[in-house]
Amino acid sequence: MYYGADYYPEHWPEARWTEDAVLMREAGINVVRMAEFAWTRMEPREGTFDFAWLDRAIDVLAGHGIDVVLGTPTATPPAWLMRSHPECFLVEEDRRPLTFGHRRNYCPTNSTYRDHTRRIVAAMAEHYAGHPAVIGWQIDNEFGDRCYCDSCVRAFHIWLEARYGSLERLNAAWGTDFWSHIYTAWNEIPLPWSGSHTHNPGLALDYRRFMSDAYVDYQRLQIEILRQYDPGKFITHNFMGFGYPKLNYYDLAQDLDMVAWDNYPRFQGLRHASMLALAHDTMRGLKSANFWVMEEQSGPAGQTQLGKTPRPGEIPFWTWQAIAHGADAIVYFRWRTCRFGAEEYWHGILDHDGVPRRRYREVAKVGAQLQRAGDVIVGSRVKARAALLLSYDSRFGFQNQPLNSVFSYERVFESYYRALWNRNIGLDVVSPDADLSDYAIVIAPSVYILPEDVARRLREYVSAGGALVTSCRSGVMDEHNVVVNQTLPGPLSELCGVVVDEYDSLDSVDAVVLRAEGPLGDAQFMSGVWVDVLEPQGAEVIARYGSDYYAGQPAVTAHRFGEGLAVYVGTVPDVAFIDVLCRWLCEEFDVRAPLDVPDGVEVVERNSDAGRLLFLLNGAGGERVVDVGVGGEDLVSGDMVAGHVAIPSLGVVVLRA
Ligand code: GLA
Ligand code: ZN
Repeated sequence: MYYGADYYPEHWPEARWTEDAVLMREAGINVVRMAEFAWTRMEPREGTFDFAWLDRAIDVLAGHGIDVVLGTPTATPPAWLMRSHPECFLVEEDRRPLTFGHRRNYCPTNSTYRDHTRRIVAAMAEHYAGHPAVIGWQIDNEFGDRCYCDSCVRAFHIWLEARYGSLERLNAAWGTDFWSHIYTAWNEIPLPWSGSHTHNPGLALDYRRFMSDAYVDYQRLQIEILRQYDPGKFITHNFMGFGYPKLNYYDLAQDLDMVAWDNYPRFQGLRHASMLALAHDTMRGLKSANFWVMEEQSGPAGQTQLGKTPRPGEIPFWTWQAIAHGADAIVYFRWRTCRFGAEEYWHGILDHDGVPRRRYREVAKVGAQLQRAGDVIVGSRVKARAALLLSYDSRFGFQNQPLNSVFSYERVFESYYRALWNRNIGLDVVSPDADLSDYAIVIAPSVYILPEDVARRLREYVSAGGALVTSCRSGVMDEHNVVVNQTLPGPLSELCGVVVDEYDSLDSVDAVVLRAEGPLGDAQFMSGVWVDVLEPQGAEVIARYGSDYYAGQPAVTAHRFGEGLAVYVGTVPDVAFIDVLCRWLCEEFDVRAPLDVPDGVEVVERNSDAGRLLFLLNGAGGERVVDVGVGGEDLVSGDMVAGHVAIPSLGVVVLRA
């Protein structure tokens, strides 16, 4: 198994490199990622390349058995480039171009920038082609942002022309009759500078899709060069988990061999284990495949303000949790804390002084565990019988029209994820295009933009025996962000056996009483944010509103459709209600945790030909005792375990049954 650190030899005297390599090796580190910000070091003047320093660093590492992932350095263009080509700067939404002095400050569609990109990527790829220590490539660093420059306007017009073919089709799709927005030439179409202005939702959605595609295209430009010069090595990019909302990550993942991502559990406060799990599952779902963590937090983090230092045991715990959810390699950010630059506060495994201390010892301890366990784990697959459907189009739509001040697609999504996570149900996060037939339960929260073919596949899924949960604001818009010409939930109303009679946008999360009934038992909950007053057309009512003018009206329904069941949740319920709903569905559809464990213990299952691996992660504040039955080998400790096993807080057992 690969286990590593992000390493910046250019930040340290060459005389130190050997000591670094020795310390790495002693900690079980066998891979580093390097060079992703070192453009000016590699190309000090246009067309003049210097790879000698990097060659020497790689030699030192390789001499200690450490392999290398090289990053292309395009997130940090050289000063000489940006001085002579200021048109390469990304222009922000307020039309101000970025300036020099930070990173991610370039425009991905600018042809000059793309030429310079080709040159540095080709030079690197040619120089390192076939190098035995270079095992793969990372492209750029944490793609994102949106650009509003003149080049992007032109690229947007070309993108639109390819998509719609004619202005007549575009005008019809967007509904440009409104406010006299009918376009008579492609170059009349603006970018949706938001400010205080409201744009056509079709335009706003397509601009977001276009900008996402622009990065996908810019990444492809680099992939093609790398594949041409250095075929056979993996190419990846470091994604930013579930939370990053500006790119369609399914599209960005498609051209890559593998997904990697950057996990910072304790950056602005400690993130709940369920939210880290959601991020891992989302990243695994991008290609339905295992992934790398390319940056795993290894010290206190921050740029201008510092967060808390990882508590003893947290770094190993985060590492094992990532592996449980499908990571096949862990790379810590960063090997040693830099003494200068914007991230002086962003700590790595070693402190500024390069002295190995507690965090190093924790990393080394996991390194030793992985030397024993890693190869059994790598390649095994996480098993999930439930899935959440993640729609970037819907996210983009809500970014443009957030409904009200308290609605959040992400929070709604997270609440369903967390209810199932609490029950230790294995979960996949899947795209709207995914094949759903293997899942017993699919939760598709607020699929706001719902193309007819996705609706059709949801119908087929339920009809064949699946359980679907969907929620308010699903099926509202067609793929052009135009409201459907049907009663809501539009293309889902037949499937859900329900229509929305009227709705109410609320500015509070606990505004309305929600009373469960029927299969959910009689209990009272709260809901808010949004209210769909429902009119069943064949569905059974399983909860009603208990306050406001819709008191007594249906809020949540369940509809037998074909062999399956479709639940429509017309509001944003509290966690207690979602928990009751999920418990009922899991019982009805026989979806269980791989093992019964006390509260606070997370269980994740990975499977391979070599058998079943059960990861037991005690995230509770104190010791927990887990009954592992006949048990088996604990890959973490190497011991055989059976019956009642005491796991300390932040302790991990990986049971090989
Ligand atoms: C990101 C980047 C890294 C570094 C860390 C810490 O994830 O990819 O280069 O900046 O954050 O800030
Ligand atoms: Zn641009």
